[in-house]
Amino acid sequence: MYCSSTTSNIPERYTGLVLCPPISQLHLVITGASDGIGKETAKELYRKGFNIIIHGRNEVKIRKVVDEIAALPGPSRDVKYFIAPADSADVDFEKIAKQFEHLNITLLVNNVGRGGVIPDRIDSKNHTDADLLDDIRVNMLFPFYLTRYFLPILRKHNGPALVAFVGSISANISVPRLTTYAPSKAFLAQLTRCLNADERWWTPTKISFIHLHVGAVSSASYKEQPSLFLPSSERFSKWVIRALGSGKENIMPYPPHLVQSLGLKFVPSGMLEAFAAETVKRQYASNGKKTE
Ligand SMILES: NC(=O)c1ccc[n+]([C@@H]2O[C@H](COP(=O)([O-])OP(=O)(O)OC[C@H]3O[C@@H](n4cnc5c(N)ncnc54)[C@H](OP(=O)(O)O)[C@@H]3O)[C@@H](O)[C@H]2O)c1
Repeated sequence: MYCSSTTSNIPERYTGLVLCPPISQLHLVITGASDGIGKETAKELYRKGFNIIIHGRNEVKIRKVVDEIAALPGPSRDVKYFIAPADSADVDFEKIAKQFEHLNITLLVNNVGRGGVIPDRIDSKNHTDADLLDDIRVNMLFPFYLTRYFLPILRKHNGPALVAFVGSISANISVPRLTTYAPSKAFLAQLTRCLNADERWWTPTKISFIHLHVGAVSSASYKEQPSLFLPSSERFSKWVIRALGSGKENIMPYPPHLVQSLGLKFVPSGMLEAFAAETVKRQYASNGKKTE
């Protein structure tokens, strides 16, 4: 049963999803929230009335973000944080979840990610196994295990709850040297589908999963001048909120990215790959490096 909405600018389905019990009693978790899209989305969700739990790897930096969020105008909410290096093999997911198990958590946004291009082919001696695995841990294993350990908490209050995975359009195109990042992001898209099926079958639950298909966004790790097709993290976060309320399984939150990706469907795949390769090469050259 859904409660009625009291917060006008959150889309209907989303308010239905989260307002029972009242939003002031609900927490959400967002990872990789010390910068970029995660930070701006956390701020936006706080403004909507949620209590927030943010994740980062640098305590000094994340504390600053806690203060920044808590100082936002409007009714004061709870802002908590946890620290976990997402590329580490030693993250104690059970311990992290346990410290928040008494809270009403209805939304988990798996935003943490690190891009993208690696310097060489995967068999190059310039990579160690550990380097390659670190990328896969951040982009794929951390969201997987965090979700596994937070799901029992999301189930506890018996109401609707949502888990979001932040993906990338790079998962759908062939880009050279994106051999750890793009496949990890493709995993998140398929994980979303399978987890939804898992919750729907035999004993259906009120948990659902959404995959956000993200194009280029100006952020801490992608410092480009914002434009129509490359929004700032702040602008993009407003579309993330709408996407979370869409009730869809897979969505491209930002409309100009959708236009872009529809346009790309008409470009022959070989031409697209050549363009992607040229972009990677240019990025390398601007960092004083050379592609082999
Ligand atoms: N920006 C884009 O163009 C774009 C495109 C497609 C998909 N995405 C996806 O969108 C999500 C957010 O990206 P963004 O561009 O906003 O990135 P960002 O500005 O670089 O922020 C990344 C966040 O993740 C944290 N983080 C990175 N590596 C970590 C690690 N090993 N352990 C713990 N925390 C870590 C960062 O912490 P620090 O503050 O300590 O660095 C920061 O809070 C990612 O999943 C990314 O793949 C982005």
